[in-house]
Amino acid sequence: MRGLSGKVALVAGAAPGNIGGATAIRLAEEGMLVVAADLHQAAAQTVVDEITAAGGTAVARGFDITDGQSYRDLINFTVDRFGGLHGLFNVAADLSPQNVGRDTDVMSVPDDVWQHTIDVTLTGYMHGIQDALPIRSSRAAARSSTPCRVPSGWARASTSPTRRPRAD
Ligand SMILES: NC(=O)c1ccc[n+]([C@@H]2O[C@H](COP(=O)([O-])OP(=O)(O)OC[C@H]3O[C@@H](n4cnc5c(N)ncnc54)[C@H](O)[C@@H]3O)[C@@H](O)[C@H]2O)c1
Repeated sequence: MRGLSGKVALVAGAAPGNIGGATAIRLAEEGMLVVAADLHQAAAQTVVDEITAAGGTAVARGFDITDGQSYRDLINFTVDRFGGLHGLFNVAADLSPQNVGRDTDVMSVPDDVWQHTIDVTLTGYMHGIQDALPIRSSRAAARSSTPCRVPSGWARASTSPTRRPRAD
């Protein structure tokens, strides 16, 4: 992967052995400055320890993706620490027995399981994108489009002031 060295990545949901942790390590191998964030800061710190032991640059941060202020604080922390933000990888999820372990089917899924899953993997991701995009946009040319990493692919959000929503 070319062009990543020296750029700043935030991985939200980074713990040892999971997708976020592996991604944080891989991005640091490319020379990115990485913030590894997770509900469990100690888990994120373990990822950071592996990165720094290999000569990379990373810092751990605890946060709760269901809390909009917590995500704003995380973004501000990232910018303060590394001077910018070029890539956001949202991959936090509550796959615990208390949550996914109680997930059943649409007819019987408990309301709190449904709501918490939405709060973590939908509303939480949106909060991150809302807070991160203006930082990217302010650094990009006004005509450009801004890629932001979401779990299922690259979402492209236009930053062009002339772009209009489609009528259909
Ligand atoms: N593992 C796979 O093979 C696979 C494949 C395709 C998609 N996925 C999806 O990718 C996502 C991540 O998968 P994973 O295997 O890495 O899961 P994981 O449970 O190992 O990691 C998720 C991380 O999110 C953190 N987290 C939970 N609640 C949080 C909160 N409120 N705030 C901040 N962090 C929080 C957890 O502490 C954990 O470290 C899931 O949505 C999963 O369904 C996984």
